Amino acid sequence: MAQSPDKPSAKKLHIKTFGCQMNAYDSERMAEALQPAGFQLTAQMAEADLVILNTCHIREKAAEKVYSELGRVRLAKEARKAQGRDTMIAVAGCVAQAEGREIIARAPVVDIVVGPQSYHRLGQLVAEAASTGKRSVETEFPAEDKFAELPARPAGKRQVSAFVTVQEGCDKFCSFCVVPYTRGAEYSRTPGEIVAEVERLAARGVREVTLLGQNVNAYHGDGPDGAAWSLASLLRRLAGIPSIERLRFTTSHPHDMDDGLIDLFGEEPKLMPYLHLPFQAGSDRILAAMNRKHTADDYETLVAKIRQARPDIALSTDIIVGFPGETERDFEETLALAGRVRFAQAYSFKYSARPGTPAAKLEDQVPEPAKKERLASLQALLEESRRSFDRQTVGRRLPVLFEGKGRKPGQIAGRSPYLQAVYVDAPEGLIGNIAEVDISAAGPNSLTGVIDSGFEWREPVQAAL
Ligand code: SAH
Ligand code: SF4
Ligand code: F3S
Repeated sequence: MAQSPDKPSAKKLHIKTFGCQMNAYDSERMAEALQPAGFQLTAQMAEADLVILNTCHIREKAAEKVYSELGRVRLAKEARKAQGRDTMIAVAGCVAQAEGREIIARAPVVDIVVGPQSYHRLGQLVAEAASTGKRSVETEFPAEDKFAELPARPAGKRQVSAFVTVQEGCDKFCSFCVVPYTRGAEYSRTPGEIVAEVERLAARGVREVTLLGQNVNAYHGDGPDGAAWSLASLLRRLAGIPSIERLRFTTSHPHDMDDGLIDLFGEEPKLMPYLHLPFQAGSDRILAAMNRKHTADDYETLVAKIRQARPDIALSTDIIVGFPGETERDFEETLALAGRVRFAQAYSFKYSARPGTPAAKLEDQVPEPAKKERLASLQALLEESRRSFDRQTVGRRLPVLFEGKGRKPGQIAGRSPYLQAVYVDAPEGLIGNIAEVDISAAGPNSLTGVIDSGFEWREPVQAAL
């Protein structure tokens, strides 16, 4: 971006992000929203004029982690004070939303508490805190659209793959989960706004876009044609942007996995064969207590349908062990379901009672040692199926989108269509391109391969983005 002569003197901003990809997206947008006020990002907390902790509340000790992190921030602030400099401190994200005033009361070092629906007000809050020294808490769910208010992403950063939030909040109220309380009611951005954002990203050289939402497949927007757009309609439209080569979306709820979306996996080559579809538990009794709105059988039927549309699809999931009342038998049903589906990737967690959620009040809490044991045996099974999926790709030729440098000199790193990390020896100039790679080996967490010698660069890498 061109430097404007009247640009305010550069101040430094440090953001530490916890939690999900939506928080990562929000952190980027906060940094962009603060740019006009002269804030430049720094990786060093010690030199920051403004520190933002973007927090997560999903599992245990999340709030405690924030307070201990604040202890570290306080030390940085004191060190800067000794040099005669001020540091402003903001807590954002889901702990900010859930704890609000309590953070201000417990942590005198905090100047601003701002919930995820109020980030468009951040610049104003920072300016107010700087001029008045007053501490503020902004955790309303305002009626206005925060995305419309946040500035468009400025050009200037080279990025191959980008996240775009299309839907936020959740109306599902699974009994264990804080998200409906921290992110509010389900809300979809308009297709016009999303298409414009993706087109801007494409113009900057982005080749892959991952659409984000707590329940992304519940997306429903008012299309420019007057019709209601589903996630499938949105993906179809985005696939029409020539330089966007890959589309992904996450996270989906089984209940909202409609036929149009399933069929798209078989129809749209730009939609990558990877789907994150949490099932949480294999026992119908536990699924009902979780208020998941599907049975184990519904889930397996759905998986069969998806595999029919796209047989090679990599499935990923989330699973909770030790939900209140879960017996050994219930847990074995979880193991059995995971064993039958055979996930390419999975995230598994011990149930953690979250304040304010219905499940936290249930009496039959599972003791910690049982949770620990169940998690270990589940993870052994998931690990085995992940490695076996990776092994199946050895010997295949896969298109890899290169995103950055590798771990060793001379190496670059990218992703297969199945979201596996792939390392090859190749020139850095290939970053931003897709090349066919012959996969030669599967390591514990990544694949290695060799670029097809007949590879011809499709187009020059966009220079100096
Ligand atoms: N919206 C997504 C997931 C959001 S949270 C969905 O519905 O699938 C990400 C994952 O964290 C959840 O899928 C769940 O497995 C886990 N999780 C959420 N609350 C939890 C809790 N109280 N204890 C343990 N794991 C939890
Ligand atoms: Fe939480 Fe359930 Fe909503 Fe997912 S669907 S965000 S697990 S309440
Ligand atoms: Fe955490 Fe909030 Fe995301 S609780 S997982 S940061 S929606």
